Amino acid sequence: MTLVVAIDGPAASGKGTLARRIARHFGLPYLDTGKLYRAVGRKVLDAGDAPADEAAALAAARALRPSDLDRADLRAPDADKAASEVAAIASVRAALIDFQRNFAAQGGVLDGRDIGTVIFPSAPVKLFITASLEARAARRYHERQARHETVTLAEVEADMRRRDALDATRAAAPLRPAPDAVIIDTTSLDPDAVFARAASLIEAAF
Ligand code: DC
Repeated sequence: MTLVVAIDGPAASGKGTLARRIARHFGLPYLDTGKLYRAVGRKVLDAGDAPADEAAALAAARALRPSDLDRADLRAPDADKAASEVAAIASVRAALIDFQRNFAAQGGVLDGRDIGTVIFPSAPVKLFITASLEARAARRYHERQARHETVTLAEVEADMRRRDALDATRAAAPLRPAPDAVIIDTTSLDPDAVFARAASLIEAAF
């Protein structure tokens, strides 16, 4: 059995923190698949095109190289917005499937929105990490403050609400838990408690 751990959930749910820790603990490679969409969005912006332009976004997805994922500007607000636009295009998503499957062909931890539903529907462990909008917005707000960005909590929350809606209602691979995913709500759980819960599920499965 290939050791694939599929972790999905909305922005700032704590899935990235959890995925990195699981990967370290179990000695598995880790892929933050949001970076794929961010890097595609970034390439489209660099080329002076609109992220919603399917031909431009598809060309950027096909030209994606692993080194594009190491760019320092993938978390900037314009990349956030561009990522959610390119992620809504079905052909762009299809062009990124092989990269993700090849990455974890020998096992791995992937986090995203459709890992358990589309990329690895037969993953032996599927986790869906979620938290209230208020809790997630507060986490993202504190991250932005730490980066000295001038933004209000209300703006972060409104932005997150919009992106959640776009991710959950798009026709192509909308954000939703796989039927066999274990749902973990992190609103009032600390990262250690979330990790303990996930680690025991993984140990039981493998
Ligand atoms: O997780 P993130 O915030 O870095 O994701 C950036 C965008 O990409 C977000 O709008 C959701 C989208 N995404 C996706 O559609 N599918 C994935 N597997 C990962 C991210």
